[in-house]
Amino acid sequence: MKKAFAAFGWIFFGLLMGIGLMRFVSTQNDLTELAAETARPERTEDGRLALYYTATDRGHISTEMLGFLQSLQTLSAAVADEDRETIRDTAGALRRGNGQGQAVQMKSPEGFRTLGFALRQDFSAISDMAMTADMAEIELAISGATSKCVACHGTYKAVEVAAD
Ligand code: HEC
Repeated sequence: MKKAFAAFGWIFFGLLMGIGLMRFVSTQNDLTELAAETARPERTEDGRLALYYTATDRGHISTEMLGFLQSLQTLSAAVADEDRETIRDTAGALRRGNGQGQAVQMKSPEGFRTLGFALRQDFSAISDMAMTADMAEIELAISGATSKCVACHGTYKAVEVAAD
């Protein structure tokens, strides 16, 4: 009788330990998953600074960027044709953003905003010089603007996160 009790006691003890261990392991897994979901490393794997944007933010950025790319193509053709009006109007349209990027601006670091602002100023200057400056001077100014695209892309990388 005593032996049966002791055996039962050990089984019960074993069960409790087992449940405790399982709970500990599953809590540990949850915590690890949570850390992985919320950790936001400063840099991406390729070493660029990570910028955390929602899908909506990224949508605004992409639209703006594809506009930049399109405009650069228009500008290079216009320079080849010495079509000053097109240079003036194309660069002039890029003086300012479309006003939809407020959230992006607020989430972005100082250096990012400075580059974006400098690019706008370059386009503004290109538009202003379009009717009078030497074509070589305009080409140089376009190259200067393009160096901001290179600088920003080389420094920062957008990483998508869920909206908070
Ligand atoms: C201040 C920073 C900054 C500057 C300046 C900048 N970009 Fe970007 N660009 C970005 C970011 C950030 C992305 C990534 C957007 C994403 O994937 O969420 C991007 C993405 C792009 C893309 C890919 C868009 C797509 O979704 O397919 C193109 C093309 C592009 N940029 C062109 C340009 C050109 C051309 C210029 C210069 C006239 C330029 N960018 C200047 C920050 C910048």
